Amino acid sequence: MAKETALPLAFMARMAALLDEEFPPFLAMLNQRPVPALRVNTLKLSVEQFLALSPWALTPVPWCPEGFTLDRKVNIGTHTYHEIALYYVQDASAMAVAALTAPQPGERVLDLCASPGGKSTHLASLLAGQGVLVANEIDRGRADVLRRNLERWGATNTLVLNETPERLAERWPGAFDRVVVDAPCSGEGMFRKNEEARYHWSEAHVLGCALRQREILHSAAQLVRPGGRLVYATCTFAPEEDEGVIARFLRSHPDFTLLPAPRHEGFQPGQPAWADWPAAPEDQTPDPSLAGAVRLWPHKLQGEGHFVAVMQRAGDGPPAAWKPAQLVRLAPSDRAALEAFWQPLIGRPLPERLLLRPRQSQEVEVSAPPEDAPDTAGLRTAQAGWRLGVLRKGRFEPSHALAMALRAEEVSQRIDQAIGGELAARFMRGETLDAPGPDGWVLIAVEDFPVGWGKRVGGVVKNHYPKSLRWG
Ligand SMILES: C[S@@+](CC[C@H](N)C(=O)[O-])C[C@H]1O[C@@H](n2cnc3c(N)ncnc32)[C@H](O)[C@@H]1O
Repeated sequence: MAKETALPLAFMARMAALLDEEFPPFLAMLNQRPVPALRVNTLKLSVEQFLALSPWALTPVPWCPEGFTLDRKVNIGTHTYHEIALYYVQDASAMAVAALTAPQPGERVLDLCASPGGKSTHLASLLAGQGVLVANEIDRGRADVLRRNLERWGATNTLVLNETPERLAERWPGAFDRVVVDAPCSGEGMFRKNEEARYHWSEAHVLGCALRQREILHSAAQLVRPGGRLVYATCTFAPEEDEGVIARFLRSHPDFTLLPAPRHEGFQPGQPAWADWPAAPEDQTPDPSLAGAVRLWPHKLQGEGHFVAVMQRAGDGPPAAWKPAQLVRLAPSDRAALEAFWQPLIGRPLPERLLLRPRQSQEVEVSAPPEDAPDTAGLRTAQAGWRLGVLRKGRFEPSHALAMALRAEEVSQRIDQAIGGELAARFMRGETLDAPGPDGWVLIAVEDFPVGWGKRVGGVVKNHYPKSLRWG
């Protein structure tokens, strides 16, 4: 594959100047195919269980216990295990971001630039259902993709917002234990995967990205509690967007210090001398703490390339209080409709704490927010917890998100298929199924993992698998 000619010449000249004798191996790697990698969904199964199911040879990612790389020829994007979200397809170097963020169950975590959800799904797994993950995406269409990915992942303690960093900083100053900024960047680490990233690259774009990153980081800093962590990441090699952004941030935010990141196999230190690249002002001595950041290079490890810096805010203290989500008491008739669906079918109690959101006329969406959920009134909110379903004219219709966060054995009526089973394949194609059994909602599952809902009448199961997920 001769991609060399398609790489921007100015990019090559910059990288040659930066990398010196390491430039040829770097360039050689950029002209190889990307390394496929997956991250196991530990909300659904353990790594050991996945290893037992996996049809592929897997090589562990040293910095991420749930991550594995695979042979370059394997296609993992279309397998049924991917459809049912047993794993996320993610570049191994991108896995370093949530791994170094290291959220603890019970914490409040904000992923500020979150779509399509690579880092958010990872953070949700590390939180293990305890605490709150606020996943934010500024672009409306991309916020919807993020919501759907988190729902498929089975994340229940998650809010999805479609806001600007400034508005969130105004609303919740000091309210988070950890804030992740996986910044929009010039994407040089995507060059192997993505023709478009190469097409859009220019030196002016790099400088524009750096400016935007500094603004985002300034808002992000305000959201961190005293003693909390701020994690900054890009998938680009450009010093202006990496050491350059962090050096300026540390100079203008003396209440933050850069923490030395763990040195996993293949991790390279940040480069203090690159902070003002290409020309450092004479009166500026490099900040040695920048070496605590991590550079992941494609010629040094199995991954596409990333930069990660973990910073800590001075002081110590709990996250600032926020106004809690405003719960509702269901009208008796709505409660009865919800119970009529839930009690005979689902073997765990109906959540007590519920939120309602009117949709079209006579239609209300019902969600179960996490214990410590904030009120999001006035913010563009795509999801406020676990979406259970919709109440419509006295009936309850379950959501796909409800199915995906249950364990199959919790559902009394189900059609369980082994991998490759004909009924499950037909279901995922959107077909109606013939399957005798009692009338009512039925869960379709593969290897005991939920796929989606059907509704059976007279032995015929009508398909409720989301149209956007159906096989073509
Ligand atoms: C690198 S991508 C995030 C990838 C994501 N974290 C993941 O792992 O799947 C950066 C995101 O930042 C968003 N973005 C663009 N401009 C922004 C801004 N001014 N403030 C916040 N986010 C922005 C983009 O829409 C994009 O989704």
